Amino acid sequence: MWIIAVTVLAIADLHCFHLFYIRFHIINSLLPIVAGAINGADWSYDYETQWPGVCTTGTQQSPINIMSREAVYDKHGAHIKGPLVFRGYKNVNASGENDGHTLKWTIEEDEIMPVISGGPLRGNYSFLQFHLHWLSEHAIDGMKYPMEIHFLHVKTGLSVEEALERPDGLAVVAVIAMVHSGEESEYALEELSSMLPQLINQHEKLPPSVIDLTRLFSPNMQSYYTYHGSLTTPQCQEVVTWIVLDTPLIISDTQYKLFSKVDVGGIDNYRSLQPVNRVIYRNSASLTFPSSLALIAALLNLTTTMSSIVSKGVCTFVNLKKRFWGKKVHDCSKTK
Ligand SMILES: *[C@@H]1O[C@H](CO)[C@@H](O)[C@H](O)[C@H]1NC(C)=O
Ligand SMILES: *[C@@H]1O[C@H](CO)[C@@H](O)[C@H](O)[C@H]1NC(C)=O
Ligand SMILES: *[C@@H]1O[C@H](CO)[C@@H](O)[C@H](O)[C@H]1NC(C)=O
Ligand SMILES: [Zn+2]
Repeated sequence: MWIIAVTVLAIADLHCFHLFYIRFHIINSLLPIVAGAINGADWSYDYETQWPGVCTTGTQQSPINIMSREAVYDKHGAHIKGPLVFRGYKNVNASGENDGHTLKWTIEEDEIMPVISGGPLRGNYSFLQFHLHWLSEHAIDGMKYPMEIHFLHVKTGLSVEEALERPDGLAVVAVIAMVHSGEESEYALEELSSMLPQLINQHEKLPPSVIDLTRLFSPNMQSYYTYHGSLTTPQCQEVVTWIVLDTPLIISDTQYKLFSKVDVGGIDNYRSLQPVNRVIYRNSASLTFPSSLALIAALLNLTTTMSSIVSKGVCTFVNLKKRFWGKKVHDCSKTK
């Protein structure tokens, strides 16, 4: 019992940062009219109060600041049913473009779309495009990240136009990214960074190439917050199931720096935080993964075995609690 308590406490604190955000730029070739409605009107991150539609009048807008302690753990699977399932994200034929607001890669027409299902989603959702925000749009416990990746999906079988009319029409998977120096952190953005020099200027486009989207995945694709919200660009339709992964992807600082040269109308491209006023669910799957337990144990420097932790359980818990609350850690051995 107390082990679970320790884990929950640790996760609450480790997950100080979370961002989730979706953005919407639809495939022009698929839906010219909708694309026009979404992208055509001129708008700017400098004048958010002048954004049209429900952007200013809506009550379920995104992005938001996710407070980990206020999230509802869905222990009994009432809202979140089973693990998320990702199919076909390994080789995706997509073309990159600078659309003036973001860098986005859209899957080629006639290609087999990757599909996500499970978790909070009812049915299958097909991948259309991903794009990047720097800084992140979502915040977790008030913390923002240098980058957030949005994988935009439409409910399988619906056109984008139809999806925009339904509260469950779209699903956006948001991956937050943290920077780190060193070669190993160059893996995630490696395929994209070689294309950046050709996407510096607005409205530049690249021919299609095959991208491994799993490189842009969070290290733990089963640990997330989920809530109902909106697109974070006009027309801000409230039709999005957000899945905000809370384990950051590590990207290289050198590659991140390249984004400061990309012209998206300004030096960054994120919408400001919107009122929360709704329930945010936290999946509990990560609590049962042995790998998460091991990671947390390592982070907390619990070098003893689980059995010896159990024998000193109460004391360890007290110490952890003190550590988290910033008080003096008292010595277990002296109390024994
Ligand atoms: C990617 O899509 C383009 C355009 O549809 C096509 O010409 C090309 O052969 C595709 N590439 C691969 C590797 O399938
Ligand atoms: C989702 O896709 C899978 C694989 O294509 C299929 O077996 C399943 O029936 C689909 N689910 C729904 C609800 O359509
Ligand atoms: C754990 O902490 C102890 C003492 O603070 C230190 O000597 C040891 O190297 C640490 N172990 C790991 C795995 O970080
Ligand atoms: Zn976005």
